Amino acid sequence: MPKKLDGVTIAAAIKQQVAEEVRALAAQGVRPGLAVVLVGHVAASEIYVRGKVQTCADLGIYSDLITPPDTTTTEELLDLVAALNDRDEIDGVLVQLPLPKHIDAKVVLDAISPAKDVDGLHPMNAGRLQAGRPALAPCTPAGVIEILKRSGIVIAGQNAVVVGRSDIVGKPAAMLLLQENATVTICHSKTRDLGAVTRQADILVAAIGRPGFITPEMVKPGATIIDVGINRLNTREEFDQFFAGNAKREATFAKRGSTIVGDVHPAAFELAGAYTPVPGGVGLLTIAMLMANTVRAAKMRRGL
Ligand SMILES: NC(=O)c1ccc[n+]([C@@H]2O[C@H](COP(=O)([O-])OP(=O)(O)OC[C@H]3O[C@@H](n4cnc5c(N)ncnc54)[C@H](OP(=O)(O)O)[C@@H]3O)[C@@H](O)[C@H]2O)c1
Repeated sequence: MPKKLDGVTIAAAIKQQVAEEVRALAAQGVRPGLAVVLVGHVAASEIYVRGKVQTCADLGIYSDLITPPDTTTTEELLDLVAALNDRDEIDGVLVQLPLPKHIDAKVVLDAISPAKDVDGLHPMNAGRLQAGRPALAPCTPAGVIEILKRSGIVIAGQNAVVVGRSDIVGKPAAMLLLQENATVTICHSKTRDLGAVTRQADILVAAIGRPGFITPEMVKPGATIIDVGINRLNTREEFDQFFAGNAKREATFAKRGSTIVGDVHPAAFELAGAYTPVPGGVGLLTIAMLMANTVRAAKMRRGL
């Protein structure tokens, strides 16, 4: 039986440790603070941001939610980021993506002080990560490493294949795996004979954004599969492609009119030695690692 790597338990353990660190910092007169900037009204972003603010409250982290209207300009956002960079009670600045199309997201993200870049997206942090220096790493890939380590899965010496090369998931996941001494291959849309490469993977990380893209024949039996993908299935046809006959999923679909599937086909998990489910896997780690990064940023900025 493949082992299910339980994101719920792992995220809870990380959050508990963060809460302990927050208490220890409070004894030194320090309260970590996170500023979350949510521009406009994107329903999914509003849900994510609510989760981030609530988790801050749960763990004793100060948070400031700033909600500029979607008419905000790049220049106005740059002024806001500059002000947050200067505020001493703010240790982390997070600009929720996606931003409205008229805003130059790269310019805004690059304006965040690297010391407060808790999403780990500033080129300075990406460079530090690549150079093996202490860096704030992007939360989702950092969560992938936590899942592997806390589940006792050996990384050193293993063939790790990462499918996807985004700045937010694929590339940093590959760098973090390399730092843990895996032999890393990065695949993308131009990779030839992808299945031949993924079949070499002892650890397979899928960060593609395509429902059920990794099929059983692309998996080496016994591999650890980390599914980063989150894809919503809205139609009966899409649902049946992945979950026909699955009573539990059927109930969710009937209730909500949709369900989610990762980038790995559910049938591929059956071949795995261990795997992260969707939902209930990697997705839950992202907020936990954001909290961990905020506390880390608070300590690093004060030399603690
Ligand atoms: N909290 C979380 O759990 C979390 C956080 C972030 C993202 N996600 C999910 O993770 C997934 C990936 O997100 P992302 O932001 O990294 O997506 P992205 O920026 O769209 O990147 C997708 C990557 O997949 C590659 N790709 C696309 N089609 C491919 C194909 N046919 N064969 C091989 N590679 C292919 C692309 O290659 P090219 O570079 O060649 O185009 C690209 O590098 C999404 O499902 C997203 O929802 C989850």
